[in-house]
Amino acid sequence: MDYFNYRDGVLYAEDVPLSRIADEYGTPCYVYSKATFERHFRAYTEALGGHPHLICYAVKANSNLAVLGLLAKLGAGFDIVSIGELERVLKAGGDPAKVVFSGVAKQPHEMIRALEVGIKCFNVESRPELERLNRVAGELGKIAPVSLRVNPDVDAGTHPYISTGLKDNKFGIPVDEALAVYELAAGLPNLQVKGLDCHIGSQLTETAPFLDALDRLLVLMERLRERGIEIEHLDLGGGLGVPYRDEKPPQPFDYASQLLARLSRWEGGEALTLLFEPGRSIAANAGVMLTRVEFLKPGETKNFAIVDAAMNDLIRPALYQAWQAIVPVDTRQTRESALYDVVGPVCETGDFLGKERELAITEGDLLAVRSAGAYGFVMASNYNSRPRAAELMVDGDNCHVVRARETVASLWAGEALLPEGGR
Ligand code: LLP
Repeated sequence: MDYFNYRDGVLYAEDVPLSRIADEYGTPCYVYSKATFERHFRAYTEALGGHPHLICYAVKANSNLAVLGLLAKLGAGFDIVSIGELERVLKAGGDPAKVVFSGVAKQPHEMIRALEVGIKCFNVESRPELERLNRVAGELGKIAPVSLRVNPDVDAGTHPYISTGLKDNKFGIPVDEALAVYELAAGLPNLQVKGLDCHIGSQLTETAPFLDALDRLLVLMERLRERGIEIEHLDLGGGLGVPYRDEKPPQPFDYASQLLARLSRWEGGEALTLLFEPGRSIAANAGVMLTRVEFLKPGETKNFAIVDAAMNDLIRPALYQAWQAIVPVDTRQTRESALYDVVGPVCETGDFLGKERELAITEGDLLAVRSAGAYGFVMASNYNSRPRAAELMVDGDNCHVVRARETVASLWAGEALLPEGGR
């Protein structure tokens, strides 16, 4: 559930009409709802109840400082994949001791910074990475806490681009090699084995793949235990899906209760700390992208609604053929309804936000692209030299600018002309 609802025919974010936001701050823009972020985060903590746990929000989903700060205040940990994400978390007041560091190729300078601030755990994805971390930690005179990201080879049943737990994905250590790599880790002097980690994919709409992965990890933990390697925490990654259209993904409560039931049958399961790295399920439906209709262009085979947002603002439809709801903000006027491809001004045929949408609109109308809070602004680019959109956060009847719209001059910040006369 989110806090974007119609009141008397106008779509609101909490207590603010989106039409007012568009008039005041311009379009395209991203609008987030603070209460929705809070609600989605709490759904996880409440689902886990008294079981020891840490919810490490996946920063990549939406890394705006206001979002991170808000979640940090609720006690969130963070899953990061770069030094940039780490610095964002610190800047927003996040606790480094609640940070886990994922990603297949952490650079030495990133490892150094993470060790200096004292993160909770490095989720290591390969042997060479383990060796690099051991060397870097040794040079600093530190012991690095590690978890191995194991690839359990389960089919998450999701889009191939966002499925990560299969044998032929680049992620993680194959489950049948994991034992040997754990033995290597346990023997390296500057590492301390803390956990076991997996992340099988994103936008999962069923619990079965998660439970399969858990079963495989528990078998591995049993073998590790026989070899005297104790695991303090089990990190099950992110991946819980959201309803974009008519999907009915499990709620965090169903997901957590099924996992806890499975875990309770395992010796020591009650004391095992569970970590989760949710991104989309916290952020997606906590945001919309607002865009205005520039022109309606009827065609022989298709009608186009050309809007002021484009693939550079929201790339999910173009990149994954992702479907996101597109709805009029103000439904009070009567308009003729037609089938439109909603497209942007970028010079690419793939520049669309939605195809064959039944919409009752006219030029100048506002549209909201729903479920845009995750993997929306963070994946935006300046393609076609388009300044990136503003980001706003609504809190009750207040609206805060949490990222100003980029200026045209900012487009070439850091660039330089060649010196006069060549050479
Ligand atoms: N942990 C790790 C190690 C991940 O790689 C990811 C996402 C997450 C957690 C968070 O997963 P979530 O709960 O958000 O599903 N850009 C794509 C999604 C890419 C997801 C990449 N990894 C999209 O727009 O659908």
